[in-house]
This record gives sequence, structure tokens and C-alpha cells, in this order.
Amino acid sequence: MNQVTAILLGAGARGQVYANYAKQHPEELKIVAVAEPKMERRSQFCECFDISEQAQYSTWEQLLAQPRMADAAIICTLDDMHTQPALIALEKGYNVLLEKPMSNTEEECQAIEKAARENSCVLSVCHVLRYTPFYQKLKQLIDEGAIGTVAAIDQIENVAYWHQAHSFVRGNWRNSTQTSSMILQKGCHDMDIIAWLIGQKCERLSSFGSLQHFTLKNAPLDAPDCCMNGCSHSDNCIYYAPKLYLTDNIGWPTDMISTDLSYEGRLRALKTGPYGRCVYHCDNNVVDRQVVNMEFTGGAVATFTMTAFTTESARQIKIMGTKGQISADMNTNTIKLHRFCEVEPSSIEVPLLIESNNYGHGGGDYYLMRDFVHLIQNGGSSLSSAQASLQSHSMCFAAERARLTHETVELI
Ligand SMILES: NC(=O)c1ccc[n+]([C@@H]2O[C@H](COP(=O)([O-])OP(=O)(O)OC[C@H]3O[C@@H](n4cnc5c(N)ncnc54)[C@H](O)[C@@H]3O)[C@@H](O)[C@H]2O)c1
Repeated sequence: MNQVTAILLGAGARGQVYANYAKQHPEELKIVAVAEPKMERRSQFCECFDISEQAQYSTWEQLLAQPRMADAAIICTLDDMHTQPALIALEKGYNVLLEKPMSNTEEECQAIEKAARENSCVLSVCHVLRYTPFYQKLKQLIDEGAIGTVAAIDQIENVAYWHQAHSFVRGNWRNSTQTSSMILQKGCHDMDIIAWLIGQKCERLSSFGSLQHFTLKNAPLDAPDCCMNGCSHSDNCIYYAPKLYLTDNIGWPTDMISTDLSYEGRLRALKTGPYGRCVYHCDNNVVDRQVVNMEFTGGAVATFTMTAFTTESARQIKIMGTKGQISADMNTNTIKLHRFCEVEPSSIEVPLLIESNNYGHGGGDYYLMRDFVHLIQNGGSSLSSAQASLQSHSMCFAAERARLTHETVELI
């Protein structure tokens, strides 16, 4: 197989995850240039991936201003910095791996889909769940008719209280005016999976949800703006920043707060950066709970629940068909199939490749990357193409409109 070359735009958390594929499979993928404005992050990355000085850029604009220098562009900048790099990269003939959400606005998602359609390049959106052995198995069972025709799906996204605090109260995705709504940011994976499993178009939906807990009205009396400013509630508060970030765990999410992960480095980051802030004194506005009700062509219905208030950070799904039901938990990688004609349910094996062990999202990060590289090498169509992703992104935009207006939104 030919080695695929790629440029990376944004060497943050996600960029590093995908780039790791090149470390693991150097015969398949080589990162040849990077754009990353954070100097320390950029030099750590370039040292690790052996990227020459001429191939290091501060911004994606600078990198994409150069003539095309690789087969693929991996776009891992933050949400509001996806559209322009994606459009320019496609125009230059790069195959594009684009982080989700495609964009924060529906119009821009449509523009990306149009550009991908008009180009002969691969464009894969990082809907990593589609690629996990867990959801692949569920899709296979449904398509084989193991439970007859799907009548209803319930999917729960257990965000986990600490993950909500890290990403959606203190962190990057706390404020929809700066990034996107929770349903687009986090729930786009779920809406995508539901639509993909059902295999039909969503015709209409409604949604409810709000931000209730992580607000000023719930701040303990006299709690300072920052945990590090002598908070008298440190013993009792589960969100006290040192309890989350000054522990033995220096992996995710702690490694997001600073590039200096020594105790002193992390302490400094909590004192000066956003992750030390009191969770009740932040500038967050995204919901901490939301439900979406959907109806699909053919009559299948689905519900999606997202909640911050769980211990585990994982998804559960129940799929109810005319001939049986499936209950599955992504956290434990367990699938139970109960056909109505059988007395007992059976447990279904979810095979995992050993290579995917160190990747997140149930191995989805690994399988997505592998698929992307193989598509460039061998051709074919992407499982998470711009067209498929636009459909589920549109459901998210509609769900947010429905939540804000309290009205049912028609999609067809
Ligand atoms: N697929 C998934 O499941 C999944 C999970 C988490 C995040 N994401 C998405 O991945 C994207 C990146 O998230 P992340 O967690 O890696 O964030 P991050 O902040 O760790 O990484 C973003 C990087 O982009 C860099 N950057 C900023 N301006 C730039 C510029 N002009 N040119 C080049 N680089 C620039 C930043 O310095 C940073 O290193 C987001 O869109 C996020 O929503 C997807």
C-alpha cells in the first residue's frame, strides 16, 4: 500500500489523536507539515513527528497558502475554524478529514457539503461512533433483520458531571455564542448514530432542555470566582478544581489545562487559566440537560437524552424492533439481543482490534483514521461523508430551534 501523506491543522487534543495513527502505522501515514499557533505545543509535536522547520506553520492560513504538499489535510481546529480551511483545502485538492461539527452554522455546513460534492476528493467528518465495533455491530444486527423492523430507539448520552464541568462549564465548549449549542457540539454524534441506525430521514422533531445547575444562583455563599482564591467550600464541593486536576491522573482531561503537567505547572494553570474557575461563576450558557423526540420516514420514532448528571461518561441505547429488542451499553461494550421468539436474551460479542486499545470513543478514533487512509489509498465512499453528516447536523440545528421555540420542527 502507498504511504499517504497529510498536513495537520491544529495540533491540539484531537489532532494528536489522529496523528498517532502515523506513529503506529508509519508505512501507511506520514504527517509532513503542521499548523499550530501555540509554540510549545507545536515544537513538542514537531519533535515527536520529526517535522522539519520549513514545514512548521503558526496558522492554517499560512500552511494552506502554500502549494498542495500532501494527499490529505486533517482539520482539527476549534469549531468556528472549520469552514474556511475545509473549503480551501478541498479547492486545493486535499482529501479532508474534518472534525465535527462541520461548522457552527447550517449554511456553512451546506457550503462544505457542496464543495465536497463538486470535488473528487474524500471528505470524512469525524463521526467516530459510526466506526466503533460497538455501533457497527448494532448496525449489522439491524440490517440483518435480527429484531425485525426498527420501531423505536432510545439513546442516552451520559456526559458525566466532571466532563460537563471540564468541557461545557469551564472549557472550550461552554458558551454557544463562542462555539455551538450542546446538541451540535456533543449531541451531533448521537443524532448521527440514531439516523444512521434507522436508515431513514428524520421528518420532524421537538426538544426540551436548559441550563439549570451550573449557574450563579447555585454558587455557595461567599464562593470566590476561582477555586484557588481560598474557597471555604473546597472539602464539600465535588467541582473543587484541585480535586479534578491535581491528582495522579495527568492524562485526559488534565492534559488539556497546560502543556506543563508538573504539579507546579498545573497549579499555575488553575490559578491563571479557565479550569480553576468556580463552576458556578463561569460564562457558560450551554444546557446541562436536553431531550429530543424524533419521527422518521416510515414511522420509526426515537428519543435522545443528554444529561450532565451521571457518574460514568458513556452512551446507552435500546433499540426496539417488531421482532425483538437490543439493549446495549458502550461503556461496558455489551450488547444484549432478545428476540421475542426466544426465552432468554443472548449476549453479542463486540470484537476489538488490539491496535485500537489506546484510542478513545470505543476504538472509533482508530477505525475512522484507518478508514480515511484506506479510502485515499483504494478509493470508495466515506461512511461519514459530508452528505450523511449534513443530514444529522441539520437535525441538530432543528433540535436547537425546537428547544428555543418550544415548537415541533419539520425537516422535510
Ligand atoms: N470527534 C469527536 O468525538 C471530538 C471530540 C472532541 C472534540 N472534537 C472536535 O475537535 C476539534 C478540536 O478540538 P480539540 O479538543 O482538539 O481542541 P484543542 O483546543 O485541543 O485543539 C485545537 C487546536 O487548534 C489550534 N489553533 C487555533 N488557532 C489556529 C489556527 N489559526 N491555525 C491552526 N491551529 C489553530 C489551537 O491552538 C489548538 O491547539 C473541535 O472542533 C471539537 O469540537 C471532536
